[in-house]
Amino acid sequence: MNSLGVKFLLILGVMAMCTISTSGAAENTQQAAGASVPETPEARDARMSWWREARFGMFVHWGLYSGLAGTWKGESTGDSGGKEWIQNQVKADTWEYAHEAIPHFRPKVDFAKEWAQLAKEAGCRYLVFTSKHHEGFALFDSQYTDYDGADLTGRDLCKEIVDAVKAEGLRVGFYHSVIDWHHPQYDYEAANKLPHPLRGQPSPNGPRDHSIYVDYLHDQVNELMSNYGPIDIIWWDFSKAGNDGPFWRSDELMRAVRAAQPAIISNNRLYDTPNIEKEDSVDRLKNWKPEEGDFTTPEQTVPSTGVPGVDWEVCMTMNTTWGYNEYDHAWKSKETLLRTLIDIVSKGGNYLLNVGPRGDGSIPEESITSMRAIGAWMAVNGDAIYGTTASPVEPPAWGRLTAKPGEVYAHVFDWPLSGTLEVPLGQMTVTKAYLLADAGKTALPVESSDAAVSVRVPAAAPDPIASVVVLEIAP
Ligand code: GLC
Repeated sequence: MNSLGVKFLLILGVMAMCTISTSGAAENTQQAAGASVPETPEARDARMSWWREARFGMFVHWGLYSGLAGTWKGESTGDSGGKEWIQNQVKADTWEYAHEAIPHFRPKVDFAKEWAQLAKEAGCRYLVFTSKHHEGFALFDSQYTDYDGADLTGRDLCKEIVDAVKAEGLRVGFYHSVIDWHHPQYDYEAANKLPHPLRGQPSPNGPRDHSIYVDYLHDQVNELMSNYGPIDIIWWDFSKAGNDGPFWRSDELMRAVRAAQPAIISNNRLYDTPNIEKEDSVDRLKNWKPEEGDFTTPEQTVPSTGVPGVDWEVCMTMNTTWGYNEYDHAWKSKETLLRTLIDIVSKGGNYLLNVGPRGDGSIPEESITSMRAIGAWMAVNGDAIYGTTASPVEPPAWGRLTAKPGEVYAHVFDWPLSGTLEVPLGQMTVTKAYLLADAGKTALPVESSDAAVSVRVPAAAPDPIASVVVLEIAP
């Protein structure tokens, strides 16, 4: 460990003393989440427009856990599951955790540029990274704690990331955990439905005053909203019934965020939200409150019929962990990742695909390779993703459909051996069909019957994972 690391541990020792167009649910004029000024549906649509067009973003989980890489005191903690939770898994208090993890957190020069360039190359339009995960370590420079990237490294890692992402012309967002396993006043007894490494043990520093922690949470969010220029997304994590809105003074927090960043877009995990992850999505939407966040976040799953009437974004890992785990080799194939993106977009959602860099900020090769493969596809077929909306009809057996005014895109997973692609477009009239991969837009022969359009396609698929046939539709 270098002298900075030693100094940091000393500081720690001293400190130790002491959560589409919104028809349906959002039809009426809404308060912009928690704000005092009502927001019209038109203003909300304008604020959401870049996000609805973007469709694809990169999620980054990076913190002290990244350096541990799934190893605790020389031993593997297993090959699956979220290793950003390792502190809770091994039940370490924050001091022991910091002592083990800090020596392995050594951000290399230009790590942020590598992230941003990869996101750009992959065709992502935005990047959301962990400003603070449950472990409580702040990547940003905070005057309210020494448990942050600047005190540890002498660099404002958050600024490096935000600047690098903006330099690539991408939107940027913060994932921010309201759970905190470091702060000595975070009352894990009161937060009795929320995980904490010390659960079941008495507080080492005596009774805790949760309101002090909530002040700290608000102060830190204020730093994030004030010190890094325009921020496009605030991605809260997380809440559970009983520990929701009031527990974090969420309305007040959202008001402050909106006051500082009027155009910001937020997810709804700051509240006990309709947890739209399973097949009961439509039922749960009865509880949807737009003022509690702009979009909802199905995690690790794609709702089979999408989430009609609200904005949504699926977040997903490439293997089974969010934070880097050197033992996790359960990498999804580029076919799975790309078809998942297409599936989500065909249902009207966004895809936030995670990478978990190592303790030095480097991104695992498997993730780089997959992101580049998606990027290569997007470079040819991006028109069938960006700015598109959900499939106008039931998904066909051979693939998925996306749409734009005047165009339907057929994403063909299983290329027809017969040489004829049947597209179930009902009464729509197709005026021209061509392969998106064909820059010359050579017209493919089309025949229409009552229920389907038949397109004669070449014998070989332009892309073995997904080939796109563009169908121009008569007004
Ligand atoms: C869960 C996990 C967390 C991860 C998040 C991403 O809430 O607790 O580790 O960051 O999902 O959606």
